[in-house]
Amino acid sequence: MKPAFNVRQQSDVYVGSVDEILPGVLPEGRTVVVTDATIDRLYHPLLAPYDCVLIGTGESVKTLQTVERVLRRFIELGVDRKTFVLGIGGGIVTDVAGFAASIYMRGLRFGFVSTTLLGQVDASVGGKNGVNLDGYKNMAGTFTQPDFVVCDPALLRTLPDREFRAGLAEVVKSAIIADAELFARLEQSDFATLRRDTDLLADALSAAVRVKADIVERDERESGERRKLNLGHTLAHAIEKCSSRMNHGEAVAVGTALVADAAVKLGTLAESDRDRIRALLAGLGFDLEPPVPVARLMKEVGKDKKSEDGRIRIVLPAGIGDCEVRPMTVPEFAALF
Ligand code: GLY
Repeated sequence: MKPAFNVRQQSDVYVGSVDEILPGVLPEGRTVVVTDATIDRLYHPLLAPYDCVLIGTGESVKTLQTVERVLRRFIELGVDRKTFVLGIGGGIVTDVAGFAASIYMRGLRFGFVSTTLLGQVDASVGGKNGVNLDGYKNMAGTFTQPDFVVCDPALLRTLPDREFRAGLAEVVKSAIIADAELFARLEQSDFATLRRDTDLLADALSAAVRVKADIVERDERESGERRKLNLGHTLAHAIEKCSSRMNHGEAVAVGTALVADAAVKLGTLAESDRDRIRALLAGLGFDLEPPVPVARLMKEVGKDKKSEDGRIRIVLPAGIGDCEVRPMTVPEFAALF
């Protein structure tokens, strides 16, 4: 099967059946799998041929300690420079696997089978591999492209509704950033249809991956355009720090709705487009009420270590399928709410 996309002539992204694709993309020689207990339970036969390194689940395992444990297991398993590392799982597994592979013996080749919608449309594609440090998201990591990413929509059948919905937040994000047609198709659909119609889902997933692949093609290291992929994320990260009630995708939905409001205030977005963004997210079942007051979120935004020259880069929708990145001080951003 041919890849759906190629990122920077280094990374092939496939959308289709993992059973058909994987044998054709794994290099000859030894493969070691990094995965988690959930995948081990659900897809044990897929893992059977390989030595596996299991990590825990949940954002709390996305740490340097986990990466260190993986590296130690690689030593125990006799992993050498020729071994291929295959990360099978959601965004946490692929981040940890990609990071460990890209530093073990100064770098092994690796690839991913991405098993969550969030991972397929965002985390696994684009070469960012990182872990959290001292409460700051993705503070340590590498930009190293995987040889391949396999996104199999059929694997999403076992995802709980809540996890599936979380991934849809990133699909909507991609549509707002650069694909008005995808946005319109999502408006004509609904949560239940997207859940059961694998063709429709494969189409939405491919469109969202295309948005990401195109942007990463032009700006791998996030010096400019790649920042657009952070639409809704400045506030989402603050929400995730202030409240354990929302997962990443749910927080991205709230963050996206809030920056849409801010963009209307600044005059970059028409009210009618803001209403479409809010209606689509609400229609997919997202609660768009921030779990803590926005003033509290702004305190967290103020602690953001990623600000440059005292200014944070806020991504503002400029229409459906268009957005702009605007440097702002935290007080300037806070004044919009
Ligand atoms: N998740 C944003 C990016 O990959 O740049």
